Amino acid sequence: MTPAWRHLPRALRLETSSPRTPKTCPSLSRAFWRSVTKLGLHTKPRMPPCDFTPEKYQSMPYSRVLEVYREHLSPELAYFPEPLLLHQGHMQWLFDHKGNRYLDFFSGIVTVSVGHCHPKVNAVAQKQLGRLWHTSALFFHPPIHEYAEKLSALLPDPLKVIFLMNSGSEANDLAMLMARAHSKNTDIISFRIQAAAMPLNCCQAKDQYIEQFKDTLSTCVGKSIAGFFAEPIQGVNGFVQYPKGFLKEAFQLVRERGGVCIADEVQTGFGRLGSHFWGFQTHGVLPDIVTMAKGIGNGFPMAAVVTTPEIAKSLAKCVLHFNTFGGNPMACAIGSAVLETSRQPLPREEVSQIHEDCRQMGLIVGRGGLFSQTFRIAPSLCITKPEADFAVDVFRAAVTQHMERRAK
Ligand SMILES: Cc1ncc(COP(=O)(O)O)c(C=O)c1O
Repeated sequence: MTPAWRHLPRALRLETSSPRTPKTCPSLSRAFWRSVTKLGLHTKPRMPPCDFTPEKYQSMPYSRVLEVYREHLSPELAYFPEPLLLHQGHMQWLFDHKGNRYLDFFSGIVTVSVGHCHPKVNAVAQKQLGRLWHTSALFFHPPIHEYAEKLSALLPDPLKVIFLMNSGSEANDLAMLMARAHSKNTDIISFRIQAAAMPLNCCQAKDQYIEQFKDTLSTCVGKSIAGFFAEPIQGVNGFVQYPKGFLKEAFQLVRERGGVCIADEVQTGFGRLGSHFWGFQTHGVLPDIVTMAKGIGNGFPMAAVVTTPEIAKSLAKCVLHFNTFGGNPMACAIGSAVLETSRQPLPREEVSQIHEDCRQMGLIVGRGGLFSQTFRIAPSLCITKPEADFAVDVFRAAVTQHMERRAK
């Protein structure tokens, strides 16, 4: 007899450890199928292959997990009507207790920057685990010095003094303290969660943002302020970008009032933006203090504040900063491994094959980059929407073929 799953379209079969017995995720497939039917879309996305086999789930039964959650854990925090019980991760993939595979497009809230259980990071963590877990910042240990050298090399002068801690909230608290110690003022400005910018041209939008900013400066805070926190791109209400030039002008207004400018790079740092390693670089500004967390440790609790020697001195005059776990050997070893894991470009022959596959399907794209690894897409401006869709479909098909070749 044909197993039931064979009657399902391929895209609804979530593969398990054995590709011959794929399982479906019922809630996902029902919801997905309903929307596909409603929209009249009868082609389904096919999940790209993955050559990793998760372990069999052998922990607490799902029903007991739900009971413990209801009785003992903070109630608002679970996603999905049937909360997802995750069991294992491998690079960009997550596996639940039933063996269903998911493509993780949230990375543990913008945190797992180089992939779940990245082999290089894991190897370093395991080595350090067997050597030394914890001392405290009162004692020297090489991982902290190695890490400080690597991180400071990634920041422009004079951002060279590093304070290590365990979470983004701790980092922002310390940055606030530094701003107050240095400026000798109290008031701090930050953004509220912002909706996407209104449909104005960039200059008009920038002027309106600046008007509101000046309004806040003249009505809500004292004549002199301590500091201004800005994420280079607002990260929670969708990804909201500021109009071009806004941050540069806002930094100037803050400095005119005696305040320091703090870039919260908790979400945008460590290469997350692709084009630049730090988000502030995309605005052409130089902050006085930078706070970092999330991607810094790829999921290991770790955070940092980096500032100028001058601001660090102002802090030292006011308080002794000490943090029991901040900069511990495990975190520093992992942080170093994360910095050393930068992605390698695909070998030239593989890029050439994708390029050739596009041509065979009727699409011409260019190539560039140091290793000829970048596809340059620059059509004539007279193209139509169906033509752009065709190009995207061809490119997707070529990349899928590439992934399938790699998985063999
Ligand atoms: C931009 C930003 N800053 C700071 C934090 C606080 O970080 P943590 O949750 O590590 O305390 C977050 C957390 O989501 C964040 O998104």
